[in-house]
Amino acid sequence: MAEKPWDGRFEEKTDAAVEAFTSSIDIDRQLYAYDIDGSIAHCRMLARASIITEAESNALIDGLEKIRVEITTGNFVFSDRLEDMHMHIEDRLAAHVGVVSRKLHTARSRNDQVALDVRLYLRDKTRKIIQGLVGLRKILVDMADRHMDVVMPGYTHLQRAQPVLFSHHLMAYYEMFLRDTQRFTDGMKRINFMPLGAAALAGTTYPIDRIYTAELLDFPEVCENSMDAVSDRDFIMEFLADASICMVHFSRFSEELVLWSSSEFKFIELSDGFSTGSSIMPQKKNPDVPELVRGKTGRVFGSLISLLTLMKSLPLAYNRDMQEDKAPLFDAVDTLSACLDIYTRMLPKIKINGKQMAEALSTGYINATDMADYLVCRGMPFREAHGCVGRAVSYGLSHRKELHEMTLDELRSFSDLIEDDIFPALTTRKMIDRRQSFGGTATDNVRAAVRRAADRMADEMRSINIQ
Ligand code: ARG
Repeated sequence: MAEKPWDGRFEEKTDAAVEAFTSSIDIDRQLYAYDIDGSIAHCRMLARASIITEAESNALIDGLEKIRVEITTGNFVFSDRLEDMHMHIEDRLAAHVGVVSRKLHTARSRNDQVALDVRLYLRDKTRKIIQGLVGLRKILVDMADRHMDVVMPGYTHLQRAQPVLFSHHLMAYYEMFLRDTQRFTDGMKRINFMPLGAAALAGTTYPIDRIYTAELLDFPEVCENSMDAVSDRDFIMEFLADASICMVHFSRFSEELVLWSSSEFKFIELSDGFSTGSSIMPQKKNPDVPELVRGKTGRVFGSLISLLTLMKSLPLAYNRDMQEDKAPLFDAVDTLSACLDIYTRMLPKIKINGKQMAEALSTGYINATDMADYLVCRGMPFREAHGCVGRAVSYGLSHRKELHEMTLDELRSFSDLIEDDIFPALTTRKMIDRRQSFGGTATDNVRAAVRRAADRMADEMRSINIQ
């Protein structure tokens, strides 16, 4: 038997340095289970189309299942000599089933085989990521529900702006992760196309039945064009774009957790199990988990840029460059999955310091907009009210007084529309509960948003079978 399945035309042996350079087995061995699933479906289709016999197909399938066990149990030898996962499996098949192994690759090329394997891999991983996102959103909804009484400053420009419910802030992340879930779910439609049968690039002369292969592997669609089937990596770029956006959300959340757990904010405390210490400063309790999630975001962006750059000038159809798609994809999948997992564990253990958040509302003229609104309700045009309150703030700054700490006479010096009902109007609860516009932070609104989210989650959990 030849050294390599493709070396019939070669007179010299491949240089060992080239074997090492071109080998992808260290990376694509992760695809073994998908490669075997794809090959089994291919055998069944070949037998049904009478391209091989039923007995040959059964022997091949038997051998493939033996290889699955060998790899799963760590009893399989990998070597650079055999380049990639596909060649390893085919080579090993000969040891199990003899010469019939040489029929497995009929009507197939590694070009359509690898495209199939990556689609099977990404479909599996995307499903798990979607499940993870649903789980994470459930945690956010539960937290929002439990902490409905906690108020905090909402920020713009990282300056205290207006009071909001802590739950409202959490539900903003719920919305981001909901959109992520939707993006991954939508991307699945384009992952879920079956490329096998495109062969090297032009299709095959054998009477194959691609629809049957698709049915066996549970693909709702078959790739229409054989050249596109072997050279399309859009579904990977799309996944990486979705993963990058999702990581932006994780990174923003992480930034807030880092800020909130600092002595300057003290809004939250991460549990000891999710913090680390310093080897030199005994007092330190560091938020390494959110910091690392923030840091890992760059890796996922890097994967997206790698794929875009890899593909941008490739002529049709398959080019060996495309072997380089797997390392960034696998790294992004692993990174995003790890971030999802650690957040799901960390969030429920965070201690919320509601007292400190409420205290942060007592300074910073956070009720200035509400004082302007008060004047508007009494007939003053908004721009005038804005100027009037601005003068009150300036007075407050020079006399070291918040608006609600001024006497009625002081306040009336800015407008005689002000009566003593101004004081209850400027309390945090009133300010929050007055913001009843749809999507605003009023408690009734947030409660309703939490309820809607919980209902949606229950439906989603049922449809993807997780509790
Ligand atoms: N290891 C290759 C890859 O990942 C498989 C396809 C190889 N095809 C070829 N014509 N050399 O892309």
